[in-house]
Amino acid sequence: MMARQDIEDLKQTIHHHDHLYYVKNSPSISDQEYDRLLRRLRELETAHPKCVTPDSPTQRVGGKVDERFKAVVHPVPMLSLDNTYNVDEVWAFHQRVLKGLPDVPEDSIEYAVELKFDGLAVALTYENGLLVRGATRGDGLQGEDITANLRTLRSIPLKIDTESFKRIEVRGEVYMPKKEFERINVEREAEGEAPFANPRNAAAGALRLLDPAITAQRKLDIFIYAVGFLEPNPFKTHYELQEKLDVLRFPVNKHNRLCKNFESALALIEGFRDKRKELDYEVDGLVIQVNSLAHRKKLGETSKFPRWAVAYKYEAEQAVTEIMDIVCQVGRTGSITPVAELKPVLISGSTVSRATLHNEDEIKRKDIRVGDQVVIEKAGEIIPKVIRVIEPSGEQAQPAKRARPFKMPTTCPECQSLVHRPEDEAVWRCVNSACPAQLKERLKHFSSRKAMDIDHLGPAVIEQLVDSGRVKNFSDLYTLKTDEVASLERMADKSAQNLISAIVKSKLAGLSRLLHALGVRHVGQRTAILLARKFRSLKILQETSYDELEKIDEIGPVIAESLKTFLDRDTNRQEIERLLERGILMEEQGDAPESGGLLEGWQFVLTGALTRFTREEAKEKIQSLGGRVTSTISKKTDYVVAGTSAGSKLGKAQQLGIPILDEEALQKLMESGH
Ligand code: IVH
Repeated sequence: MMARQDIEDLKQTIHHHDHLYYVKNSPSISDQEYDRLLRRLRELETAHPKCVTPDSPTQRVGGKVDERFKAVVHPVPMLSLDNTYNVDEVWAFHQRVLKGLPDVPEDSIEYAVELKFDGLAVALTYENGLLVRGATRGDGLQGEDITANLRTLRSIPLKIDTESFKRIEVRGEVYMPKKEFERINVEREAEGEAPFANPRNAAAGALRLLDPAITAQRKLDIFIYAVGFLEPNPFKTHYELQEKLDVLRFPVNKHNRLCKNFESALALIEGFRDKRKELDYEVDGLVIQVNSLAHRKKLGETSKFPRWAVAYKYEAEQAVTEIMDIVCQVGRTGSITPVAELKPVLISGSTVSRATLHNEDEIKRKDIRVGDQVVIEKAGEIIPKVIRVIEPSGEQAQPAKRARPFKMPTTCPECQSLVHRPEDEAVWRCVNSACPAQLKERLKHFSSRKAMDIDHLGPAVIEQLVDSGRVKNFSDLYTLKTDEVASLERMADKSAQNLISAIVKSKLAGLSRLLHALGVRHVGQRTAILLARKFRSLKILQETSYDELEKIDEIGPVIAESLKTFLDRDTNRQEIERLLERGILMEEQGDAPESGGLLEGWQFVLTGALTRFTREEAKEKIQSLGGRVTSTISKKTDYVVAGTSAGSKLGKAQQLGIPILDEEALQKLMESGH
C-alpha cells in the first residue's frame, strides 16, 4: 500500500529533523516546514488508522496513568558513584585503580571524563529498535515505570536502528534547562504556588506527573551517558560506545572527553569549573571513569559503587552569615512563608539579605533559630537557601544563649485570623479571605504589568488604600475619586490624576488580562490567554461546564476544577457583577487569534548581532506579538536577546538576573510563548 510507505518515509524524515533540532541544536528546515511534515503525517494517519505505530512522532503524548506508576526491577542494578570533593581524593581513586590493575602500565590507563548532570537517572529499554520502557532509578534495584512521560521528551528516539542491537538499555540523566526552570517558577508564583527550589526538583516533579500531556509542556531534556546492557556488545571502550550512541541519535553530551592519562583528566576539573556556569543545565561536577571495558570488569564494583569511576563534585558557592530575624510573609493565596532576614553577605556576585525557609518542616529539620550562624548557598546560582546551622562553640555553646526554636504563628501575622495547615500540604494558610495582607498581594497582582497593567498603583499606594479601608476588593478601585487619592500620603495632585486615569484605562484591558488578574489558582497568563481566545466573553465562560473545560487541550482537570470553583463562588460572582457595573470590559477584543499576543506585556532588549533576522525584523516580530522592545535594560526588562559579540548590556542583564535568550530561544518563545 502506498500510504504505508509514505507514512514510513515521513516518520523517518521527521525523526531525522527531531534529531537535528532537539539533539544537535542545528535544524536544517524551518519550523513551518517541520509543521507541514507533521500535519501531513497526521492526515495520512487519520485516513489510515491501521498504519499508526507507537514510534510515530504523533504518538509521543499518550494516555494518562491511573493513580500510581508500576514498579520495575532493573535487570542490571543502577549503581551510583562515590563522591570526591578535592584533587587528593581523586588521586586516591586513581591509586586504587592502579592497585586493582597490577599488570597494566600506568600510561595505558585512559579515562573518559564527562559532565555530571544534576537531574534524575533513568533507564530506557529498546527491543528490536523500539522504545518499550522507560524507568526511574528508584533505589537502584527497583524503579518506577514512567514510559509515558519519558516518551514526551523530544530528544529521546522512539525508534533506533534495529540492525545494531536486539536489546539495549541506555541510561541517562533527565534535566530541566535553567531557562525553563525560571519560566516555570515565574508562572507558579503568578499562580500563587510555591516555586521549586531548584531545576532538579522541578524535573522530578514533572517526571512523576500522572498526565503526560503536562509533562510534555515542561520541556525536559536528557543526556544519555551509559548502557545498562546491550546484546550483542562488540565494544572495547566506553568512549567507543558513546560514539555509537551518538550515531544511533541518542543525545550524548558534546563535552565528553577521552583523556590519555590521569593528569589530563585532572586538568579538566579546573577547565570546567567556570565553564559549567555558562551552560543551560545544572552541572554539579565531573564523572571520571576508566575507559577500557576490560579494565572495568577487572576492577568490579562494591554493592553501591563501581570501582572504576568516581564523581568529582564542585563546591556550590556558599557563605556564612547570621539570621537576624525570621518573619512570616502572607501571600496572595494566604500561604504563610517563613523568611530569614540575614546579615547582608556577598555570594556569587550579589548581596543576599533574605532567604526563604520554605515551610515549618524545613525549619524544624534544620533547627534554624534567630541569632544562629548559618551556611547559605545559592542553589544553582538562583535562590539563596539556608543549608545548615553552624554548631555554636565556646560561650555560645551554652543552651541558654541560643534563642528558642522557631514557632509558626498560630494566627495570621497580618489579620490575626486563624491559620490552617491542610493535612497533605506543608504550608499554613490564613483562612480569612478578607485578610488585608492577602488583599494587598492580590491587588499588586491585579494591577501588575501582565494583568490589568495599572501604572502608578505601587505597593505604597496599595498599602494605604487597604489600611484606610477604602479598597476592600478589586471593584473598589474603580469608584476611587481623584481627591480621595490625592489625600493619601506622598501623593501629589498630578500623581493622583495619573493614577485615576490609569485605573480608568485598565477598564478596557480585555478578558485575557482580566482573567489573569483575578488570580484564580492555576490560571496564569498563558492559560488566561488561551481561555480568552476560546471563550471570548466571561459570561460564556461562566456558563461553561466543568466537563467542557476539562476537554480543552492544555486545560485538564486541575485548572478546570479551580476555575469552576472560583467562578461559582457567590462572593466572586458578586465581585464580577460589580466589575461589570463599573464598566470593566469582559470580552476579548480584536480578531480571534491575533489579539492578546503571546508576548503581550513582555519587554525585550536586543543586543549584539543577530543572524537569523535583522534587529529591525526581530523588533517588528516581537511587536506584532504584543511585546515591547526598548533600548535600555531596566528592572522592567523581561528578556535580553543577545546575538554575537554582545557588549556591556549582557553584563547588566546578568547583574539584574534577567534571562538572556539566544536567537533560537527567541524564535521558540515567539512560536510557543515559552
Ligand atoms: S555514570 C555506575 N555519568 O550521577 C554509575 N552518571 O552519583 C554510572 N550522573 O546515578 C553513572 N551525570 O544519576 C554517569 N555523565 C554522567 C552522569 C551521571 C549525572 C548521575 C547519575 C548517577 C549519579 C551517580
